[in-house]
Amino acid sequence: MDLFDSLPIEQTGLTAEQEIHALRAELAEQNYKYYVLSAPTMSDREFDEKMHRLQELEAKHPELSDPNSPTQKVGSDISKIDSFPRIKHRYPMLSLANTYSREEVEDWVRKLPPGVEIVAELKYDGLSISLWYEHGQLVHAVTRGDGTEGDDVLPNIRTIAAIPQTLTDAPERLELRGEVLLPWERFEALNKQREEQEEPLFANPRNAASGTLKLQDSREVARRGLTCYLYYMLGEQLPGTTHYERLEQARRWGFPISDAVRVCQNVDEVMEFIAYWDTERKNLPVATDGIVLKVNSLAEQEELGYTAKSPRWAIAYKFAAERQLTLLKQITYQVGRTGVITPVANLEPVQLSGTIVQRATLHNEDFIRQLGIQEGDRVYVEKGGEIIPKIVGKAEDNTSGQPCQPRTPGFITHCPECGTELVRVEGEAAWRCPNEVSCPPQLKGKLEHFVSRKAMNIEGLGSETIALLYDKGLLHSIADIYSLRADDLAAQERLGDKSAQNILASVEASKQVPWPRVLFALGIRMVGETTAKKIAKRFRSIDALQWASKEELTGIEDVGEQIADNIVAYFADMRNLEIITRLQAAGLQLAATEGPATAELPQVLEGKTIVISGTFTEHSRDEYKQMIEDYGGKNSGSVSKKTDFILAGDNMGPSKLEKAHSMGVRLVSEQEFLQMIHG
Ligand code: IVH
Repeated sequence: MDLFDSLPIEQTGLTAEQEIHALRAELAEQNYKYYVLSAPTMSDREFDEKMHRLQELEAKHPELSDPNSPTQKVGSDISKIDSFPRIKHRYPMLSLANTYSREEVEDWVRKLPPGVEIVAELKYDGLSISLWYEHGQLVHAVTRGDGTEGDDVLPNIRTIAAIPQTLTDAPERLELRGEVLLPWERFEALNKQREEQEEPLFANPRNAASGTLKLQDSREVARRGLTCYLYYMLGEQLPGTTHYERLEQARRWGFPISDAVRVCQNVDEVMEFIAYWDTERKNLPVATDGIVLKVNSLAEQEELGYTAKSPRWAIAYKFAAERQLTLLKQITYQVGRTGVITPVANLEPVQLSGTIVQRATLHNEDFIRQLGIQEGDRVYVEKGGEIIPKIVGKAEDNTSGQPCQPRTPGFITHCPECGTELVRVEGEAAWRCPNEVSCPPQLKGKLEHFVSRKAMNIEGLGSETIALLYDKGLLHSIADIYSLRADDLAAQERLGDKSAQNILASVEASKQVPWPRVLFALGIRMVGETTAKKIAKRFRSIDALQWASKEELTGIEDVGEQIADNIVAYFADMRNLEIITRLQAAGLQLAATEGPATAELPQVLEGKTIVISGTFTEHSRDEYKQMIEDYGGKNSGSVSKKTDFILAGDNMGPSKLEKAHSMGVRLVSEQEFLQMIHG
């Protein structure tokens, strides 16, 4: 790596490291200008290109990765980074002092003035949010940010049904603070979906909630199903003299307030609450990571006051992640649906947070190296907020009393399922089996993806049926789906005549699925739904796409080097070409239907240059961009003399607004725009 690093990069004359630093600084400055000043000095295109270049360099140099890099702060599927308005908190958003043992909690309670009541609550593990109400209307929803100012994510917060948008009988100005959460069930479903689409998984519900709140597309936010608990009220002339009364008042106004709240008279009652929820929290639908204790009387709170960072009248007690020592018996390897090899630790069964743990993921080769573990070691297993057990280290002495053998010779070199030699793409952590076409789990994965709802939408072929038909030799490629016969299907134990007929009817219907979705269904690596649409728009048939060069492909929005390489490799494989020939013979839509749909749309925006700004409710920004093009208009990133109008959503940045006014550029609302194009 060192040698490679010191080699100059052709175009720039900089080393990779220097170029990475320069790009990070430049992009961070542009982010600042765009987000905070709403006055970018770089075109969107240039910004995107630089971002791509940085992503590419970082992928090649994982050792230079930095969580603060601009590539890490923005969702990769948002090609144009847009801002949420920044808002200064009226009251700073403080954190809480943490304690980790019951002794520390007891100490804190004992130091309070004698006889004070303490409200015990759960500490919800999500993102803090501050809801601003003015004259009974929800007007802002501000994230914590740096504690002094945060992002106004109101359109996304409005998707949470439990949060009232209007209040009756409330003070003129009111702020409610709480935690935005993604319930476990939703988190798991989201990750399952992301796995299917080969998108990176969220490590825990908190990260998922955070990623969700930052989305520009509120409809996607709504689909994900966030929820919220409020636990703190701020403002002037508020009702009540205790924290508890305020919670009750908030509940009457219709806010979601947790039932897990207890007013404790003494330290014993506090300890009871902690002991109860330490186990009971595992049955809750959302993640919690501790208990919060607050002095109930508001007068006492004021008396106790604040340090620079946190109130003296409240404290958090964090639940301990339970940890156990056990024997790592064996490392086995799983082949995922995309060929990724995941090492799995097989453990001597051990009791942890009420469940028996005998397996834990080891993620990848680097993870094993970092922990320095091998078969026969005694390892620590922990169950934290993620619920999934993880190995966090090994016992130093390693005197397990068990024979310390066999030793792992190193990571496997061949696929345990099909025997193919594994490959590791530079910059990726995972080893992968490259045999996409006939490695059993990969093939089953491809079949499952092909029939899935967003792809060919073939009903009746769930993963079990696919596995069954695979084992019986009836399904060995996606093309085989179109050769399935009723009697073969009906002869299977779990199927029968009726379901055989249904499957075949659905297979038949899938022949009408349009070209962009068929392209997505083929399951070319990293070609997700949106990318497939964009590619299908540029290449209007599989015959055209087959001959596309890498340069032509990277010319398409969202298609980077890696995706282009994957597409080229896909068509270079004879086995795929055979499949395509069979799909063609079966009558699938491998070309766009005649007469491009866009040509029929009235070109009402012909010759118009339009800038999109703000957040929208009816469609996503990307959809509006597409509509502008479909109806003959041109998108532009910044307001200039050439701008005909601004498609203005909610929360347009102040400086963009000012620029529009000073240049006399017209603002068109979302509704007006939709009328404009739909007539
Ligand atoms: S009260 C000034 N109550 O924990 C005190 N916070 O480390 C304001 N949290 O930023 C916070 N559950 O995001 C409070 N029942 C609860 C909470 C809670 C979760 C979070 C909140 C805060 C962080 C403090």
